[in-house]
Amino acid sequence: MLHGQSDECLRGANVRRAGRVRTSFAGWRALPPSSRHGTVASAVSAEAEALAAANASGFGLAAYFCTRDLARTFRVSRALERCMVCVRTGRSIMMKVFIVGIAGETGFRLARMLKDRGDEVDGLYRRSDQARRLAGIGVAATHGDLLHIQARQLAEAMRGSDAIVFSAGAGGESDEMTTAIDRDGVVKSIDAAGLAGVKRFLLVSVFPEAWRERHMDAGFEHYMAVKKQADIALSESNLDWVILRPSALKNDPGVGTVSLAVAQIHTEVRRDDVAATLAELVHAPAVSRKILELTEGDTPIAEAVGALACT
Ligand SMILES: NC(=O)c1ccc[n+]([C@@H]2O[C@H](COP(=O)([O-])OP(=O)(O)OC[C@H]3O[C@@H](n4cnc5c(N)ncnc54)[C@H](OP(=O)(O)O)[C@@H]3O)[C@@H](O)[C@H]2O)c1
Repeated sequence: MLHGQSDECLRGANVRRAGRVRTSFAGWRALPPSSRHGTVASAVSAEAEALAAANASGFGLAAYFCTRDLARTFRVSRALERCMVCVRTGRSIMMKVFIVGIAGETGFRLARMLKDRGDEVDGLYRRSDQARRLAGIGVAATHGDLLHIQARQLAEAMRGSDAIVFSAGAGGESDEMTTAIDRDGVVKSIDAAGLAGVKRFLLVSVFPEAWRERHMDAGFEHYMAVKKQADIALSESNLDWVILRPSALKNDPGVGTVSLAVAQIHTEVRRDDVAATLAELVHAPAVSRKILELTEGDTPIAEAVGALACT
């Protein structure tokens, strides 16, 4: 992202636009010691170079950098010998996200949240009458059936995305459909992501021990088995994956807090909060190749995701 326009530290300086940079530094500029309004003394681009210049200057660093990587924020802050660090979460890093199952209960909530934070959103929906509702939140998604669409067709729709979220599901329609959507649909989407060159892939899965105490029917056991097979397929891929296992979903309004960790007790969780967690995870590339379990809890969602980004 460019910086400088509203940067009080650099006001009056000759600000060079750095253009749109997603994961790297937008640029660093060391100010002369005596002048807050002087000409920018130098422009450097590499992290190590910027840190070395700042630490050698005797007066520190005045700069912004934009990153999607919270771990990098902490690394740079620690490496600066003299500095005043302000960390701001912003809506400034826009991403393009493709949601498989975008018209579903969780998928639609996620689409709306991502749009609200300024992201570009696309996705796969099955029924033509869903287009209107999606248009209502400013999304012109891709109409298609996961059963019949070819991986290369799906890849074309996904091309140019920064992340894919798979939140489709057969909803227990039949064992055949559960296998076709909840497992084979995931595998097809993984293949499509590979063909499209999209690395980041978030999968909505399920707690393996969900409702063990209820002695569920064979259809539910089949659902659990294929969900696990989908988890395995994604975890064995070379994608930058995250598997999110929410507790039993409910439609009560979100509360903005959760419990999120590699192991949780299965209870319930609100779809709004699942969608908000997915939205944070999409924007937290430092959280990668992790299986996470999500339940109701007291931790603000951004904090819960941010804590994982630092581990
Ligand atoms: N329900 C729970 O308690 C629970 C718990 C943990 C995890 N999960 C998982 O969480 C995810 C989201 O659940 P949810 O209840 O929010 O989802 P949902 O409302 O059932 O949405 C699923 C979406 O997938 C779409 N879909 C199904 N078959 C398709 C096909 N052949 N082609 C294209 N799209 C298709 C559906 O399309 P239509 O709108 O046309 O039906 C629907 O929009 C699912 O993967 C589910 O397994 C659920």
